Amino acid sequence: MSGAFRPPPYPYDRLRGLRDLAEALPGGVVDCSVGTPCDAPPPAVVRALAVSGAERGYPSSAGNPAFRRSAADWLGRRFGVEVDPSAVAACVGTKELVASTAHYLRLRTPVRDTVLYPAVSYPTYAMSAALAGCRAVPVPPAGPDGGGLDLSGVAKADAARALLLWVNSPANPSGGLSDLVAAAEWGRRHGVPVFSDECYADYTWEGRPRSVLETGTAGVVAVHSLSKRSNLAGVRAGFYAGDPELVGYLRDVRQHAGLMVPGPVQAAAAVALADDAHVEVQRERYRERLTHVAGVLNDVGCPTSLPPGGFYLWVPVPRRWDDGWAMAEDLAKAAGLLVSPGDLYGERTAAHVRIAVVQPMVRLRLVGERLAVAGWS
Ligand SMILES: Cc1ncc(COP(=O)(O)O)c(C=O)c1O
Repeated sequence: MSGAFRPPPYPYDRLRGLRDLAEALPGGVVDCSVGTPCDAPPPAVVRALAVSGAERGYPSSAGNPAFRRSAADWLGRRFGVEVDPSAVAACVGTKELVASTAHYLRLRTPVRDTVLYPAVSYPTYAMSAALAGCRAVPVPPAGPDGGGLDLSGVAKADAARALLLWVNSPANPSGGLSDLVAAAEWGRRHGVPVFSDECYADYTWEGRPRSVLETGTAGVVAVHSLSKRSNLAGVRAGFYAGDPELVGYLRDVRQHAGLMVPGPVQAAAAVALADDAHVEVQRERYRERLTHVAGVLNDVGCPTSLPPGGFYLWVPVPRRWDDGWAMAEDLAKAAGLLVSPGDLYGERTAAHVRIAVVQPMVRLRLVGERLAVAGWS
């Protein structure tokens, strides 16, 4: 049947060959491909998973009152915004929310069929359009580093068809920061809901963390994850908060779809959101690793800047390689370092690689040592 949907290869499954090359080195692969945390979550959070007593009954799809209150309180502390817990709802990690929201918005507004998303971005925004049978229309970046959004680049006709605009600040993969005030203003002017994926907000290095909710809640939804903030990617917990009407619609439709964060996970997430000290510790870990790996790359003739936010290095491919795949192959062979070629993140991103600093320092130091042995420095 023509036009039938076939899932493409999952981006990180395409790295199998590179992984084999890296794994072949004595000491094995230093895996900096997927942004999956390696550090332990706070012990009190892990304890809460075991002792909540919330295993037996069905959990609330919207999130139980303690979880929503903890999320609303955190938004208040982190961004200085006041959001009523009734305008907060749980998601099973944010990837499923990113992947499914276009579909649910389309059911409600079938005359619209377009997902606007950053051209240099996490692949699930574009995939959400495919899963909804919609058009994915990339919004160009504001600057040459791939960060920010040039909303003047959105055609009027695309704005009129848009179900939503995704923004992501700090951004994966570039680490760039977007002007969330301008994005919210653009959305309100064009009648397009703005979904602001803020899962790296705690790892903002330039200036203070920002949320779209600082502009008010009308027409905007902020999306937050416990995965990166609290090293809880394995338990799948996140939340979305903002425009009461949008949040209410998604909460209702998602309840019908059976999307529920397990009760013990909600209990643990409430504990994690109530604690900021562990995030400070994690920030220092990522800062040290970013600085170290950028230093190693600079020393071997691969100019690398520190990102404005996030825990990725978005490295321009030096001229001696044709593209990110070629550079990634040599890094895998010489250093056992597994990185993500840039074309996983857009149409015009082949001239970069992304390095997630999700390995402990002892593993990251090995990269520099191996490159020295290989004669790169
Ligand atoms: C920009 C962005 N959004 C969302 C996610 C999904 O995170 P999770 O589903 O673990 O909450 C990721 C994960 O890497 C991401 O980079």
